[in-house]
Amino acid sequence: TLRWTRSLQLTLAVIKPDAVAHPIISEAVHQKILNNNFLIVKSKELKWRIDESQNFYHEHQGRFFYQRLAEFMSSGPMRAYILAHEDAIQLWRKLMGPTKVFKARIDAPETVRGELGLTDTRNTTHGSDSVDSACREISFFFPDFNVSRWYEKEEPLYRTGPLCYDEE
Ligand code: PPS
Repeated sequence: TLRWTRSLQLTLAVIKPDAVAHPIISEAVHQKILNNNFLIVKSKELKWRIDESQNFYHEHQGRFFYQRLAEFMSSGPMRAYILAHEDAIQLWRKLMGPTKVFKARIDAPETVRGELGLTDTRNTTHGSDSVDSACREISFFFPDFNVSRWYEKEEPLYRTGPLCYDEE
């Protein structure tokens, strides 16, 4: 059968409270999303209660930064995006740059965190790190969004790239 070669993947991207508090910074991140041809599937602004924040980061419970991170992420509004792109998860993480801001500034100054990150806590953005976490995190931020349904019904409509014949 004939099919398109490029398919889209979903990821969750979040502009953290430090960046949303400064419109110039959140606008710069938004432009980065647009300039890299992500499809914005959904986007919303939201603010977490502390228990939502603790719940989201529960895998880091016990780490020295857990409480600080949980408090920071519930300290003000965030903007969350469901983004689609070929290899969206890896692409968004590459654009964000390393978690540690001192490393980002030195090793990847052109990335979001390298350019705009303030500290290891106030590091501007979040991005899912695997297909499983993208699915979990999208559902956490957008409970009404059905990830598997999107892959089944929507993704095929956006396929691009060269046409090729399938093996079978
Ligand atoms: S790890 O070790 O790979 O699990 O950690 P990492 O993915 O780098 O970071 C997980 C989240 O913790 C945040 N983080 C910190 N917050 C505050 N202080 C310090 N020192 C710190 N180190 C890591 C980091 O920003 C990650 O949050 P998200 O929202 O996933 O970016």
